[in-house]
Amino acid sequence: MKNLDELKEKCEGCQMCPLGKTRKNLVFGVGNGSAKLMFVGEAPGEREDATGIPFVGAAGQLLDKYLAAVGIEKSEVYIANILKCRPPKNRDPLPEEQDACIGYLREQVKLIRPKMIVCLGRISAMRLIDPSYRITKDHGNFVKKGGFLMTAVYHPAALLRDPQKKVDMYLDMKKIKAALDELE
Ligand code: URA
Repeated sequence: MKNLDELKEKCEGCQMCPLGKTRKNLVFGVGNGSAKLMFVGEAPGEREDATGIPFVGAAGQLLDKYLAAVGIEKSEVYIANILKCRPPKNRDPLPEEQDACIGYLREQVKLIRPKMIVCLGRISAMRLIDPSYRITKDHGNFVKKGGFLMTAVYHPAALLRDPQKKVDMYLDMKKIKAALDELE
């Protein structure tokens, strides 16, 4: 695949799992195609499915607030998900759906070549960092994996359910911004 547009076109025709039949829109990813920092969430929700853009619903709006609060420009990052299609009723992505879709994310990462990957939530962290990842214990800790600096933060939807986690999220995002500045 030569570029993100070509990859997106390939994804648009994907029927590798049953979610291909139920999606309104494929949610490929959005942002800077040569971002140093990439965020990876779990799967599109209702608003994302309706618009084709990741993190535009309530959780995404909260993510935007954290980016602004720590001084990360949205235009300098890239945002994608493990799954490119919405699971029915926003249930957790099944392992076989992740297996079918993850190759597209890997191709995206190869094209974007970020230096840092931040997993949004447990599902993404377990898939990309470590299958035994414990988000409550490990969030905000950086690891080096496959040449990338990686960490995970709480999923913004978890913060909406449990506002007590918001302090940790702010501190983690500050660390991410500091680590990003170190890269430059
Ligand atoms: N939650 C996710 O994990 N991804 C989105 O794009 C929206 C909500």
